[in-house]
Amino acid sequence: MIFRNLELKDFRNIEYLSMIPGEKVNIICGENAQGKTNLMEALWLFTGAKSFRQTKDAEFIRFGAEKASLKADFYAEHREQNAEITFSPTKNLKKNGIDMKSSAEYAGTCGGVVFSPSHMNLFRDGPKERRKLADTSLCQLYPKYISVLGDYNKVLLQRNTVLKDAKYHPGLIDMIDIYDEQLARLGASIIRTRVNYCKSLNKKAAEIYKGMSAGREEFFAEYVTTVLDENEHAESSLSTADWAEKFYTALQKTKNYDFEHGSTSVGPHRDDIEVTLDKMPVRSFGSQGQQRSCILSLKLGEAKMLGEAMGEPPLILLDDVMSELDFIRRDYILNSIGESQIFLTCCDKELFSGLSEGKVFHMKKGSLV
Ligand SMILES: Nc1ncnc2c1ncn2[C@@H]1O[C@H](COP(=O)(O)OP(=O)(O)OP(=O)(O)O)[C@@H](O)[C@H]1O
Ligand SMILES: [Mg+2]
Repeated sequence: MIFRNLELKDFRNIEYLSMIPGEKVNIICGENAQGKTNLMEALWLFTGAKSFRQTKDAEFIRFGAEKASLKADFYAEHREQNAEITFSPTKNLKKNGIDMKSSAEYAGTCGGVVFSPSHMNLFRDGPKERRKLADTSLCQLYPKYISVLGDYNKVLLQRNTVLKDAKYHPGLIDMIDIYDEQLARLGASIIRTRVNYCKSLNKKAAEIYKGMSAGREEFFAEYVTTVLDENEHAESSLSTADWAEKFYTALQKTKNYDFEHGSTSVGPHRDDIEVTLDKMPVRSFGSQGQQRSCILSLKLGEAKMLGEAMGEPPLILLDDVMSELDFIRRDYILNSIGESQIFLTCCDKELFSGLSEGKVFHMKKGSLV
């Protein structure tokens, strides 16, 4: 996806903004609280995904205004297109002049990867955030995956409700079997998709990490599932049927434990992605710079996968992530983005003084000056 033109009205602190970005690197500089992240958020909304900040639609509308509107011309799906998003306060999305009935109808138009300060805690946070990393990308790659996840969560909720109620009505415990089969079938599909995704992502991210760190440490990322025993590895050769069998067996093994605790202790909702440098978990042993470089490698690896799957380079948004990286790493990142259009924000434009190509924009009080 390549933005040709962007126009924003009453979006966050931006009263009016019109922008013609460059095809490759775009740097948005400005002091704190001027609207840099707001602009990144607006660009991100054109990928069809939700905001990378936990936001309600009404919060997009500039204080005191009635409606926010975002328009863009862009190149995607191998042709020139346009889209318009309005919040008044409900969201309305038009693609090439046609109303989109749902986000699903628009999904797949534009691919993008975002790295914002909230991702910086990926290793300090619990496994939920790491699962989300894979899921966000998988939902862009395979729109059907969204519905499998939804169905799985529904069955999981039902199973947990029965587990809790069974404490007071022991007869209910027999009902668990009905859920176990459904859960194993849906969960198997999620696990298999994530295992294969992590294998491919690891290859790309390890290569990027190697370049970024001049080959000093060996990066390795792996999907770790609660469905297997601790010493077993998730092999990509396993079929969905194999995973269903393994998951079903694990559910039987933990049934008494689950009954005591009133929740399901194994399954993709409890799995994790483990990243190691020279076989040491980054979560416990990585320095801040190493953790940040690992996350960036994962994100840029994700962009490469998305690009291959969609057949065109995805949009890359890096909000506030370059400031703590040394020149070599910054330079490597800018050179490894391939054909992607990239938007970067920073407070100090000197960070990019060595950049030969690219456009620099200055953001002040919601306007580009
Ligand atoms: N709906 C809204 N209406 C008006 N202003 C808003 C709205 N939502 C957010 N803002 C304001 O937008 C301002 C700029 O926010 P933004 O996060 O884009 O800053 P930034 O330039 O990225 O700053 P930093 O460098 O600190 O990350 C904030 O001060 C915020 O209060
Ligand atoms: Mg910001």
